[in-house]
Amino acid sequence: MPSKKIQHILESQQFNRHWLLTQFFPEVARMKRLVEVKGVSSALSDKTVCLLFYEPSTRTRISFEQAAQKLGAKIASTENASEFSSAIKGESLADTIRVINSLKFDAVVIRSDMEGGAVEAANVSQIPIINAGDAAGQHPTQALLDVYTIFEHFKRLDNLKVALVGDLKNGRTTRSLAYLLGKFKKIHFDLVAPAAFQMKQDILDYFDRHNISHKRTKSLESVADQVDVVYLTRLQKERLKKNSKVNGNGVRLNDKVMAILNKKSIILHPLPRSDGFNEL
Ligand code: CP
Repeated sequence: MPSKKIQHILESQQFNRHWLLTQFFPEVARMKRLVEVKGVSSALSDKTVCLLFYEPSTRTRISFEQAAQKLGAKIASTENASEFSSAIKGESLADTIRVINSLKFDAVVIRSDMEGGAVEAANVSQIPIINAGDAAGQHPTQALLDVYTIFEHFKRLDNLKVALVGDLKNGRTTRSLAYLLGKFKKIHFDLVAPAAFQMKQDILDYFDRHNISHKRTKSLESVADQVDVVYLTRLQKERLKKNSKVNGNGVRLNDKVMAILNKKSIILHPLPRSDGFNEL
C-alpha cells in the first residue's frame, strides 16, 4: 500500500500492481494457511476495532467481526447505525468518528449510506478508516477479495477478459473491481448491462486515460464464449427511485448463456443474489 501516515483503505485505486503481487497476495495466502492450521492468532490481541454499519450487510460485517476476533482483537459494533447510533439524533458522521477516535480504538470499519462517506470519516480520523462500502461509491475490500480469488484460480491477473454484468451504474463492487483490475496488463472489460444501468462516466474516463480495453454491450450471450471471468451483480433496488417499475437489470446467467460460456471461465458474484430476479 502507498505509504501514508495513516493507512486508510478508501478506494481501490490506492493500491498498485506491485503491492498486490508482492505483498498482499502472499500475506493473504499466509493468513489462509494460519486459519486452516491454527484457527486463531494473537496478532491483534492488543487492538480494538469499531464496526460502524449504516447500511445492511451480511458478509462484510460478519466477516470483519470474525476476522478481528480470530486475530485476537476486541470489537465494538453497531449495525443499522442510521437508527441505532446518535446519527438518528442528528450527529454528523465527522463527530461520530471524532468520538470513536477519542475512545482509543485502533481502526474503524465503516459501511456508509453516503457516497464519499468513508473519505469524510478519514478526513477527521487519526486512526485507520476501512471503507466497507459507501453507498454507490466503492467497496475496496470486496475488490481485494475478488482479485485474490481470480488470481488464485488463474495464477495471473494480466491478459484476462472480464465481463462485469448487471447493475453497473449503482453497483459499488464492479466499480472497485474495474479500478483494481485496470492496474493489470492486457485486461479487457465487457460491460454487460442495459443502457439505464451502464457503468458511470468516471470509470469510462479511467479506462480511456489508462488505455484499458472495454466494450459496452447489453448481451451476455454475445461475449460469453470469450470471457475468462463473469462477474455478476444484482439489481441494486435500494438505489432506485421509490415506486420504480424496474424489476430487473435485464441480464441473467441462464442455461442459454451457460451452454456457450467459455468452459475455462469462472463465475463470481459478490452476493447477495436477487430474491426474485434470478440473475444467477
Ligand atoms: N458482498 C457484500 O458486500 O455483501 P454484504 O452486503 O452482505 O456485506
